[in-house]
Amino acid sequence: MKDQAEGLRNLVQTQTEKGTRSTRIITVTSGKGGVGKSNFTLNFALSLQAQGYKVLVFDADIGLANIDVLMGVSSKFSLYHLLKKDKTIWDIIQKGSNDIEFIAGGSGFNDLLRLTDDELNYFADQVMQLNGYVDFIIFDTGAGLSKETLKFILAAEDTIVVTTPEPTSITDAYAIIKMVNTMGHDVSFKLVINRVTDSKEGKQTADKISLVAKQFLNLQIPTLGFVDDDPVVSKAVKRQIPFTIAYPYSSATKSIQTLADNYLKGYRVIETPSSGVKSFLNKMMNLLK
Ligand SMILES: Nc1ncnc2c1ncn2[C@@H]1O[C@H](COP(=O)(O)OP(=O)(O)O)[C@@H](O)[C@H]1O
Ligand SMILES: [Mg+2]
Repeated sequence: MKDQAEGLRNLVQTQTEKGTRSTRIITVTSGKGGVGKSNFTLNFALSLQAQGYKVLVFDADIGLANIDVLMGVSSKFSLYHLLKKDKTIWDIIQKGSNDIEFIAGGSGFNDLLRLTDDELNYFADQVMQLNGYVDFIIFDTGAGLSKETLKFILAAEDTIVVTTPEPTSITDAYAIIKMVNTMGHDVSFKLVINRVTDSKEGKQTADKISLVAKQFLNLQIPTLGFVDDDPVVSKAVKRQIPFTIAYPYSSATKSIQTLADNYLKGYRVIETPSSGVKSFLNKMMNLLK
């Protein structure tokens, strides 16, 4: 029997890349919920956009999807409508704060595992069209390691693990890294320490994880940066305006801007065989076999 992913692989091979730029995929994840993953994803995306990059935020948090709520935008369509073939990818991309483009989540990713060949080809054909359309697609995934989240982690070029300095958050972040590594996958993890009192606390937290990862998994886990613990984040959530927009001079905003600058310093616009939407879909669909 032809495997379900074969049609997709053929499609991936025959599609020519329409865009001139390469699209980089970033997955944001965490061990524990409530560590600030969605706020980080959205405000990091807005910071990259402010630097002149085109960014699409893809809400892939099953059940707890809320990127739209953080922007006070009600989403008419979500990924669910794409998977049901009711809508095209262009129909479900919506504009939020500062005109940032996003795809709302929902229950869509549960369905991804049960797609027919026909639906899978439609999904791939639609997502493929994003290649070259934006510089970055950032997936906000659910906390913990579900099967769906694992696919996004494995297929992305960068996987950002968000943790706070709290011991429970640290151990859960390490657990995710360890699980993925134990499964034999080679993933480029990067740490973000959210809600730090100062950079000393950020560094101590990052060191705890990276030292253990080095010692027990022989993995180097670089740190992308720290985001200050700042009451404006909660205020911004209540106002449904991303904190980098509502409080542009706050310490949370400054720290996330520095972090985005650090990320961009390590980012090179080079088309490699392992980059872009095409490679992402290839990897993801190989995992569906
Ligand atoms: N840097 C921060 N400083 C202060 N509070 C924060 C910060 N980041 C997140 N929070 C708080 O944590 C809550 C949960 O954040 P959220 O992004 O929804 O987490 P997750 O997506 O990981 O579940 C926010 O509503 C806010 O009150
Ligand atoms: Mg969230």
